[in-house]
Order: sequence, then C-alpha cells, then structure tokens
Amino acid sequence: MSKPEVPVLALDGPSGAGKGTVAGLLSKRLNWHLLDSGAIYRVLALIAERAAIAMGDVASLIDITRSMAVTLPVDAQGRSRVLLDGVDVTASIRSEACGERASEVAALPTVRRALLRCQREFHKPPGLVADGRDMGTVVFPDAIVKIYLTASAQERAYRRYKQLMEQGISGNLTALLQDINARDGRDRTRAVSPLIPATDAIIVDTTGKSVEAVVDLVLSQMPRHVIFSH
Ligand code: DC
Repeated sequence: MSKPEVPVLALDGPSGAGKGTVAGLLSKRLNWHLLDSGAIYRVLALIAERAAIAMGDVASLIDITRSMAVTLPVDAQGRSRVLLDGVDVTASIRSEACGERASEVAALPTVRRALLRCQREFHKPPGLVADGRDMGTVVFPDAIVKIYLTASAQERAYRRYKQLMEQGISGNLTALLQDINARDGRDRTRAVSPLIPATDAIIVDTTGKSVEAVVDLVLSQMPRHVIFSH
C-alpha cells in the first residue's frame, strides 16, 4: 500500500479551514500531485444523484467506485478542477446540496473503504499533497508531514459566504454557520474515519491568517531534504 519513497503531505481539517486553497498552492510550490479527497466523495454523490441511487443502496455506491474515473488537474494559480470521465464537473460538485450528499456518503464505512484505492492512485512521484479529513489517519498514515488546519466556525462560515458571493450566489450567513456546525458534528462523530487530528499532526489555526502565511508555515514544517530533493 505505502510507497515510502514518494513523500505525502497530509492536510486534514474541517470544511472552510482553507485546506483547498492552501493545498493547491502547496502542490504548485512543491511541484507535487494534488488529491482533493473531498472532491472524490462529492463526485460519487453526484453520480449517485444522477443515477437516482439511494444513499442506502451501498452495493450500487461501491459499484460506482470501481469504475469512476476522476482527474484533478491544477491550473497555474493552484486552483484545481474536477473532471469526471474527462468532463468538467467542478461547478456541479461544489453546490451545497452535493456537499450534503457527500457528507452522507462519507458516513458509510464500506464506501469509505472502497474509495481507498481510488485515492491512493494519486500517490505518485515526485510527491503528493493530500487534502481531506482522514489523510494522515487512514489513507496515508505514513505521510512525511501531517497538518491539521482549523479555523473558528464563524470564520469558516464567513469564508464560504464570500466564496458564494464571488460566484454570484447569494448566501445566508446564519444558515451557512448552521450547516457548517451540522456537517462538522456528523464528520466528527461518524464511526469510521471521524474527523480528528492524527496523534502526530501539527495543528495550525488559520483564523485571521493570510493564505500565504499558512502556506509558508506549512512549508516550514517540511523536512528540508524532502523539499529540495525534487
Ligand atoms: O472537503 P469537502 O467539503 O469537499 O468534503 C465533502 C464531504 O466529504 C464532507 O462532508 C467531508 C467528506 N470527506 C470525508 O469524509 N473524508 C475525506 N477525506 C474528504 C471529505
């Protein structure tokens, strides 16, 4: 399973902690591959919705994981796109509704297990920045550096609100805060791969910090030989 010669930077934490942006920029700075594991859960939720598969139909969900072809190219600014069978589904999977369904899918232990292979396929030379909830605890336990990014729920709701505004979608801050609290609760209390920092993770609170400051902080935690050997 593990390829110790190919380093992994595991970046875990709740939604809205800034992981996506930070992971994209880190993958650019290091010239490493990028795995947005949340996108994998979201794509599965999207396919299930399109095929009218109920969340309780675990066998069909597992079937989908065997054939879904997801690629996550990163543009020059470190923004990742999500392609399903070569078709850009980034906008569709980013909706609040798809996020909700992804959270339900993510609570199914056998589905999580089925998605391990799909996620580990991204572990290729020269290295991988893996962004998610259980990268350091379950998917890549041998990661060379494990970072747990967090921020206050209020700040995370506000960031999501701003993101929606930028996309021309109006959001309700109170409702977004409620959603974040509900999703956090579900992600933290599920039986399999709950959202908790790995015991050897470095906890970074991004509240009030710029993206650049967080990227520099994470890079400062990486062993120098890993950064400079690629
Ligand atoms: O990071 P995100 O909002 O795109 O993730 C979507 C959902 O998938 C979210 O409810 C958490 C879940 N998820 C997970 O359980 N494990 C991961 N490694 C990544 C995401």
